[in-house]
Amino acid sequence: MKYYADFENKGGNLYSGEVDLVDLARREGTPLLVTSERRLVDNYNSIYESFSKRYKKFKINYAVKANSNPTILSIFRRMGSGADTASMGEIYIARFSGFGSDDIIFTPNFAPRETLLEAYRMGIRINFDDIGQFQFIADIKPRHASFRINPGMGGGEFPGIVTGGHDTKFGIPEEHALRAYKLARKYGAGEFGIHMHGGSNNLSEEYFRLITQKFFGIARRIMDELNIEFSFIDIGGGFGVPYREEEKPLDMERVADYVTENLKNIIGSEEPMLMVEPGRYLVADSTVLLGRVNYIKNYGKKIVGTDIGMNILLRPALYGAYHRIVVANRLDSPPADTVRVVGQICENTDRIGDEIKIQEASEGDIIAVFNAGAYVYSMSSNYNGFPRPEEVLITRNGEIIIIRERERYHDLISGATLNRYMF
Ligand code: LLP
Repeated sequence: MKYYADFENKGGNLYSGEVDLVDLARREGTPLLVTSERRLVDNYNSIYESFSKRYKKFKINYAVKANSNPTILSIFRRMGSGADTASMGEIYIARFSGFGSDDIIFTPNFAPRETLLEAYRMGIRINFDDIGQFQFIADIKPRHASFRINPGMGGGEFPGIVTGGHDTKFGIPEEHALRAYKLARKYGAGEFGIHMHGGSNNLSEEYFRLITQKFFGIARRIMDELNIEFSFIDIGGGFGVPYREEEKPLDMERVADYVTENLKNIIGSEEPMLMVEPGRYLVADSTVLLGRVNYIKNYGKKIVGTDIGMNILLRPALYGAYHRIVVANRLDSPPADTVRVVGQICENTDRIGDEIKIQEASEGDIIAVFNAGAYVYSMSSNYNGFPRPEEVLITRNGEIIIIRERERYHDLISGATLNRYMF
């Protein structure tokens, strides 16, 4: 029975393809992140095919922030993806993963002058977050100018992940957009791009129709008033995935239809490269997080204690996010227990699931958390002194490759100096 994406129940255990994940967790140890390459490829193709058959000049720049494992980045690079980065650190990871400067786009927020200069000198395209950010480097007369525009609306699953609209720190408000491009032109820029990102985890196709309609309208006005063309139009990421069983996946064909229709109707030329920056959609459902049940406490409310806490999966504590959890070695039993699933962190927000129904668990059982490919490892920490987990890839051929080693205790003090003040 298929459980989710590439993960299925075979004889009571969770499998990906031919790989028994319960067995893998026992061999490699927990916590363990297991990624299916096949799913990464399918997700990439789903966006690429839906858009590129409707609009020729189309490019995906994978948002590194969602999951910055270099092997995963390399898989997307080999498929033709670029890399969307938010910091010099992400640029470093992208270059380590084989992306050339031409294939990296940089959308920083409140970056210092040195960072912007360095990125520009590396030949990386920048989506400037504000007019003054561009002015930081105006004296070197950049030839390209692209600005992140806040289209005055946004959308996302939680207030914390909405980045467009009036109450956010991102981009240039639409009423100032024209001034940004005027200024860039005054400083000698001759090639222009335009960018937006309205928020994350949107499962409504209609959202993409409305926000691109608004955004392309802003782009059109700039083109008309300044008599310029855009070499690229970047609509950011935000494509959602279902976390709850009852949620429907995004209909990518419809999203692509809405976006490309808007582009043709409003921009009216097939010249600009249409770019998207998906993070979550490409990686979320490719990965499960496997953990072990350490101990169960039951004084009325049953608490299942595991080796997965907010140190690894921060989203529930940070946004109240829901992740589906199953007992990976008892899939043949019906979910019978209503429990809270916690880790070992000294915080009461250390919950990875609350009031959730799962199979009755015992100590030593393996639990699996779905949708662990996006914003899990990349948001993890060593809080309370826990090393980060190992990451494993199941390749298209069913091979198992360790793509990141488990951290060790000495990683917890890496960088700390042994200095005279300690003694
Ligand atoms: N481009 C820009 C400029 C962004 O700021 C983001 C995400 C993306 C692309 C990728 O968005 P996606 O396709 O993944 O929705 N930590 C939160 C998500 C925050 C996303 C922030 N920006 C979470 O765990 O849900």
